Amino acid sequence: MSKVTVVGAGKYGSTTVQRIAESDIVDEVVMTDIVEGLPQGLALDMNQSRPVVGYRTLVTGTNDYADTAGSDVVVITAGLPRKPGMSRMDLLEVNAKIVREVTEQLMAQSPDAIFIVVTNPLDQMTTLTAEVAGLPRNRVMGQAGVLDSARFAHFISEKADIDILEVEAITLGSHGATMVPVPSQCRVGGKPLTEVFDEATIDELVERTRNGGAEIVGLLKTGSAYYAPSAAAASMVHAVVNDTGAVIPTCAWMTGEYGINDVYLGVPAKLGATGVTEIVELPLTAAEQAGLEEAAEAVKAKVEDLRAIGG
Ligand code: LAC
Repeated sequence: MSKVTVVGAGKYGSTTVQRIAESDIVDEVVMTDIVEGLPQGLALDMNQSRPVVGYRTLVTGTNDYADTAGSDVVVITAGLPRKPGMSRMDLLEVNAKIVREVTEQLMAQSPDAIFIVVTNPLDQMTTLTAEVAGLPRNRVMGQAGVLDSARFAHFISEKADIDILEVEAITLGSHGATMVPVPSQCRVGGKPLTEVFDEATIDELVERTRNGGAEIVGLLKTGSAYYAPSAAAASMVHAVVNDTGAVIPTCAWMTGEYGINDVYLGVPAKLGATGVTEIVELPLTAAEQAGLEEAAEAVKAKVEDLRAIGG
């Protein structure tokens, strides 16, 4: 594979482009945005970093979708970020319009691409992209679980005062209020999380993870997080481009796994060149399973809201 397009040259989009380019796994990354000069300027700047960092991937900055033609993977970051006090859901209407338009433009140029959506509200924007694209659902997925799991891992490592790379953490469900951190599947230095901390401490970590995005929005005042989000999106691009088969928490279309159907939901999924190749069913506790079902219902309800506003 050789070409990835990232739509949106904001912080999330441009850092995603930078991470993909620096990993040197594709020939070209196209960064497109409606703001004239912005993607071109950022691309020029990134390309000039190549001899210093030591990679070959070329970044093309453009305002013209014709330049995205023949992309193998597209990442949609376009849309507005949250302001302090906003929930991701407050972005539903404005971002639905943008995501619909972007998907139509991308499909006209790259009908065989794998789509990775990161625009919020994530689960609904992934659903919308799949519907507008009309692609098989395995070819359209959303990024949230890698990010939420990474946040959970960070908070666990800080609390346990242990090397971050010794922590395995996972969250499922929605990228929002019904996020489902899964303590039963988390490990700290090889030990189950549930043996390391009491329930109250785990609940505290879970709550901070659920509000992880809002905490950063509140601190930044303008814009939302982008370093961990872009690392997460780039990791999914890597799995698809290199056909790794890595199991990654992904917003994926459910066809009966965990007893859930017909909804985009955060679950562990095997990713490869054709997109989601398999949804992996972890042994969940009854409470975690109930949380996942509740998340599925919440996402479905918000997809109905999307329909009501003509999305
Ligand atoms: C966050 C946004 C990117 O969680 O959804 O930071």
